[in-house]
Amino acid sequence: MNVVILAAGMGKRMQSDLPKVLHPLAGKPLLSHVIDTARHLAPSACCVVYGHGGDAVPSRLAADDLQFVLQQPQLGTGHAVMQVVPHLHDDQPTLVLYGDVPLTSASTLQTLISRAGKEKLAVLTVELDDPAGYGRIIREAGRIVRIVEQKDANDTERAVREVNTGILVAPTRALKSWLSKLSNKNAQGEYYLTDIIAQAVSENIPVESAQPAFVWETLGVNSKVQLAELERIHQRNVAHQLLEQGVTLADPARIDVRGELVCGRDVSIDVGCVFEGRVELADGVSIGAHCVISDTRIGKGSAIRAFSHIDQAVVGEASQIGPYARLRPGTELGADVHVGNFVEIKNSQFGAHSKANHLAYVGDATVGSRVNIGAGTITCNYDGANKHRTIIEDDAFIGSDTQLVAPVTVGRGATLGAGTTLTKDAPADSLTVSRAKQTSISGWQRPVKQKK
Ligand code: UD1
Ligand code: CA
Repeated sequence: MNVVILAAGMGKRMQSDLPKVLHPLAGKPLLSHVIDTARHLAPSACCVVYGHGGDAVPSRLAADDLQFVLQQPQLGTGHAVMQVVPHLHDDQPTLVLYGDVPLTSASTLQTLISRAGKEKLAVLTVELDDPAGYGRIIREAGRIVRIVEQKDANDTERAVREVNTGILVAPTRALKSWLSKLSNKNAQGEYYLTDIIAQAVSENIPVESAQPAFVWETLGVNSKVQLAELERIHQRNVAHQLLEQGVTLADPARIDVRGELVCGRDVSIDVGCVFEGRVELADGVSIGAHCVISDTRIGKGSAIRAFSHIDQAVVGEASQIGPYARLRPGTELGADVHVGNFVEIKNSQFGAHSKANHLAYVGDATVGSRVNIGAGTITCNYDGANKHRTIIEDDAFIGSDTQLVAPVTVGRGATLGAGTTLTKDAPADSLTVSRAKQTSISGWQRPVKQKK
């Protein structure tokens, strides 16, 4: 199979400097969706025709299995396919896809490909209530005889509701010969790929059709409105898959998955959550409202409470995170760890049963098991030039409002008194405190406001 992905169109209605096919749907460029679907078909050649935006498209999406071919100027869909002719293997059929039609399923394409077989042409068509703008499928005695573009169509042709989705499969040797005979004598002065249908018919090559399982599989993006509509369709599909797998979603219309969300049994997700990259939620995990979680693994039975932000972290089982917790890259928490509100953790490991329940910054730290980190604790990990590590051994107790000036170690079972600024290691099993002595002045009078 050869695959050609047309992606040279300008996308003027996007009102954007970014080439249309690089606009993200579910966090991934439109064109990447099409490329990933094409990869399911294991093509022997996959060519992307690009045009607008300079090298932005190839430089963003370059991969060993893709060939990017520039179409400059853009003289129509037929002209676009002409650009990749040298890359197409003659002995395998060619599938044409659009880079701005992101949601076509591989199974729909398989159906189309099998309709075409080795020798036939096959076009993916849909019936629309409002076919305006599309090429119309003209049939005689039930057989497709040609496709006529909206701007070239007469009233009878315009009344046809079966339209060309643009996706087709053609025998490659024949395709090359048809392309070489295309003309641009039509209402738009373009080389229409769709004109190959009439050529096939005149050469007695059968033209078949297939229909997608869902109309949205064929919808393209020409504007931000359409992009937003397809985003919702895609998210609805993802939410339905999660529900089918047994995930509880407080509202399937209020979840956004921008990547891969892998869930165990009895996972529940409240409203307004965003998942990015690869996120794994083990059995029994619950995610509170409005959490943003990226590239993270959450262990069995853990609860992530509302408004938490978690990026590139690992959370052990039976842990409780949030509300309002922030776990930054390199955070690795053991089992039964509690991280409470307004606690930020970065590049740090916590052993089992440790807690940082309120208002703390823990960065570049190795925290043992059963450690309690009091409210207002800060690891001073950065000296303005370099980052240093803090080590807090098992069973240590860090009093509130403590600053740990790294590099520094708190020994096993050590206690730091509240307000300590720790600049030297704290020995195991001892109380360490740095604090000005408390004094009281009896009869102290507060200043009073002077009269003018
Ligand atoms: C095309 C079809 C029409 C079909 C419609 C479905 C032709 C002549 N018409 O319409 O029958 O109903 O798609 O949406 O094929 N592109 C290039 N280079 C070009 C022109 C287009 O790469 O020179 C790409 C665009 O980026 C886009 C796709 O081809 O991904 C379709 O182009 P577009 O202009 O949207 O389609 P139409 O020609 O209007
Ligand atoms: Ca279009």
